[in-house]
Amino acid sequence: MSQDVVSPSPIRLVVLISGNGSNLQAIIDNIANENLPAQIVAVISNKASAYGLERAKKAGIKHHVLSYNDFTDREHYDLALKNLIDEYQPDLIILAGFMRILSDEFVQHYSQKMMNIHPSLLPKYKGLNTHQRALDAGEKEHGCSVHFVTTELDDGPVILQAIVSIEDNDTAETLATRVHQQEHRIYPEAIRLFAEKKLKLK
Ligand code: GRF
Repeated sequence: MSQDVVSPSPIRLVVLISGNGSNLQAIIDNIANENLPAQIVAVISNKASAYGLERAKKAGIKHHVLSYNDFTDREHYDLALKNLIDEYQPDLIILAGFMRILSDEFVQHYSQKMMNIHPSLLPKYKGLNTHQRALDAGEKEHGCSVHFVTTELDDGPVILQAIVSIEDNDTAETLATRVHQQEHRIYPEAIRLFAEKKLKLK
């Protein structure tokens, strides 16, 4: 007797970006080439100049710019962002280099439905300049982490991490390049685990 393998229906992703969008590209590519069971229903940037918007356009994905300059304060910005996101009824929100701090209310609205990627082995090196800080501290290993977003910055349960060895001649730039390569591998993988309902929050 043959048994049909039922693949899960694609989950709906809204991806938030501010810049280059290489992680966005990795997700687009994984959906196209690696059967990642997801569809990106919208990309939203807080910066009109973000190159990731070009990537979305090229992939035929709906994209929006929501600039903070058009709002009086964080509360109103986050409300508009929430309303825009919710129009797309996403299953999961993906922060992919989105350089804005989100209000507690916003984060709680997407509790267990919002992921971030951070360029360090959390809980080490939260915040900015992670590669230089790891070098300055004489670390032998560095890396990146995908985690669920909670109200604490760069905190929340870690889903996946990738370790990168630090070489003697590394600079922040060379290290960043290798960490980025790992980001492009583990972010789609974390989304796959979510889509396949293999993540349990304890
Ligand atoms: C990545 O290094 C990620 O870890 C951090 O922001 C950067 C985004 O890069 N949160 P890109 O825009 O995906 O190229």
